[in-house]
Amino acid sequence: MLTQEQNEALTQVGPGTPMGAVLRNYWYPVAFTRELDEFPVKRARLLGEDFAVFKTREGSYGIVAERCPHRGASLVYGIVEDDGLRCGYHGWKFGTGGDCLEILAEPDSSEKFRADCAVRAGEAQELGGLVWAYVGEQPAPQLPRYEAYVMHGHRDMGHAVIPCNWLQIMENAVDPYHVEALHGNYFEFIAEQTGMAMPGSFGGNKHEKVAFDPFEHGIIKRRLLVGQDENSDDWKIGHPLVFPYKMWVGGNGVYQMQIRVPVDDTHTQVIFYTVHAPDGADIPDEVHTVDYPIDWIRDDGTFIVDYIEGQDIMAWVTQGEVADRVNEKITKSDVGVIACRRMFRDAMDAVAEGKDPTAVVREPHDVIKLPLERSKFGRGAEFASDWIDNGSMKFSPIAQEMKQLHIDAAHAREGMTER
Ligand code: FES
Ligand SMILES: [Fe+2]
Repeated sequence: MLTQEQNEALTQVGPGTPMGAVLRNYWYPVAFTRELDEFPVKRARLLGEDFAVFKTREGSYGIVAERCPHRGASLVYGIVEDDGLRCGYHGWKFGTGGDCLEILAEPDSSEKFRADCAVRAGEAQELGGLVWAYVGEQPAPQLPRYEAYVMHGHRDMGHAVIPCNWLQIMENAVDPYHVEALHGNYFEFIAEQTGMAMPGSFGGNKHEKVAFDPFEHGIIKRRLLVGQDENSDDWKIGHPLVFPYKMWVGGNGVYQMQIRVPVDDTHTQVIFYTVHAPDGADIPDEVHTVDYPIDWIRDDGTFIVDYIEGQDIMAWVTQGEVADRVNEKITKSDVGVIACRRMFRDAMDAVAEGKDPTAVVREPHDVIKLPLERSKFGRGAEFASDWIDNGSMKFSPIAQEMKQLHIDAAHAREGMTER
């Protein structure tokens, strides 16, 4: 339970807010690489601010405030050139660093005058099928090369803009009991009512205990299910909330970074960034990279709750645009949520003292590997099929092909053990 002021401090993401200052220490995906290849400039709303993100003809990426410093037209309707973006209205040209390079109607404008005409710019770069942006203060940290973005496998990205604050989605990442209730008991109820088959991997998962371990990239969540022993991956390894806006989850050859970009206080861009890379699979050099919208709400405003992430989205959105943490009843089993809020409060304190918050990466690196169960819920290859059929991946254009990939890989692995 928080005061109204504490709740606002934790959830407001705009410029000049304490959490906004924390969140401006990280890189965020603002476009799919495919989008800027198809059309080289696009609007991106991030942390309550509007930007134009673009790819120059020379192939570098840039992100600038949407509003042109001249007289305020949108740079989203600019012309992309070799080395920058030219406003569509009167032709002022800006480099990727935001400098005003040229004023069309005043070719002899002085450098001194133009120095005053720069547009606010961040930094942008491409990694793993996404265009990432940093819009905080310099020096920019490294774009963390988490394993998901660099590993070899097929990339499958389901996405949706969810009309609620990003923090309640992050609290869900450290809330293991919801898997038992929402994806278990409630799913069974929906299956019973609709006549669908209950996916075996999700029914009957009863928790014996849970644990949360803060580490340098966030919080590792571990669970022991009834019937498992303490050597199970779910307990021994677990998987992390990746501070401040992701969760790394998966198992059995499916690797998924759940990305929740704070668009503004009441909207979150969710990307289920999945890599299919089961052991034993024959994955070609040329992998699939697909992105697609996921269905989560019907025209009449009711939620689509017959699959895993649809159930999560129902829970996130029905908590309200910004969850009411003043009138909630936090209890012992919410210990992960409490740990999560503490980490965010510590981050606000760190930033107020001029320090880097958790998971800001300054050192150049090839890859950052995070802990992740290999065998999820003690299940085998059927886990991947169950997840594809009963998760947001069912909307993927490559869903059936990926299912077959996991089945074939399981056969190949069996073949290997028989030999
Ligand atoms: S408003 Fe952009 S050049 Fe005039
Ligand atoms: Fe969930």
